[in-house]
Amino acid sequence: MPRNFIFFSLAVLLLFGAVAAQAQDNGLQTLRGDVGLSETGVAPDVRRQNTDSGRFTRAYRQAPPMIPHKIDAYEIDLKVNQCMRCHDWPRNVEEGAPKISETHYIDRDGVALDYVARTRWFCTQCHVPQANAATLVDNDFRSAIDVE
Ligand code: HEC
Ligand code: HEC
Repeated sequence: MPRNFIFFSLAVLLLFGAVAAQAQDNGLQTLRGDVGLSETGVAPDVRRQNTDSGRFTRAYRQAPPMIPHKIDAYEIDLKVNQCMRCHDWPRNVEEGAPKISETHYIDRDGVALDYVARTRWFCTQCHVPQANAATLVDNDFRSAIDVE
């Protein structure tokens, strides 16, 4: 192995060690909490979806809207996307569902398509069902509406 490579690896290891040690000093907590890597933690409570109070407002203009209905029964896999049954034009009209955004028909090269772009296929990558859940980790995030 070339010598430089060994030195470089050592430097990287030291750097990671220093960063990890500092993270501990700051009292940062992960979603796992105090539970060690090899231990099994207690499963978190199941959060009830909030489907009764209408739509939650978006936290900022470009935010993906949250899903105001149940989605347990809607399959999304390589071939099937049941969300599109209601959210694709023109079926959305008879279903009374909002059409997916025009941005969802544009592929990564900026080409406008007549079907949902593959980059938007897995809806739940960005859209999550709304729930009245407590924050998992304390943070200072404020909605753009509150900041004004
Ligand atoms: C049976 C039809 C149907 C299916 C299937 C369906 N939806 Fe919906 N969706 C609706 C309707 C109707 C609304 C509007 C509800 C309202 O106005 O309260 C809606 C609202 C939404 C919204 C809110 C849009 C906004 O502008 O606020 C999102 C996001 C959404 N759905 C995502 C999904 C995703 C993701 C899936 C698949 C996992 C899905 N939907 C499957 C009918 C459907
Ligand atoms: C990569 C992230 C991403 C994915 C994947 C994605 N969306 Fe969105 N979606 C957004 C964002 C961001 C917005 C709001 C900004 C915009 O309109 O582009 C949005 C907006 C919407 C809206 C509101 C449209 C409107 O005009 O108010 C609906 C409905 C929606 N998406 C449904 C879906 C469905 C159904 C899928 C899966 C087929 C999906 N989205 C996949 C990010 C995403």
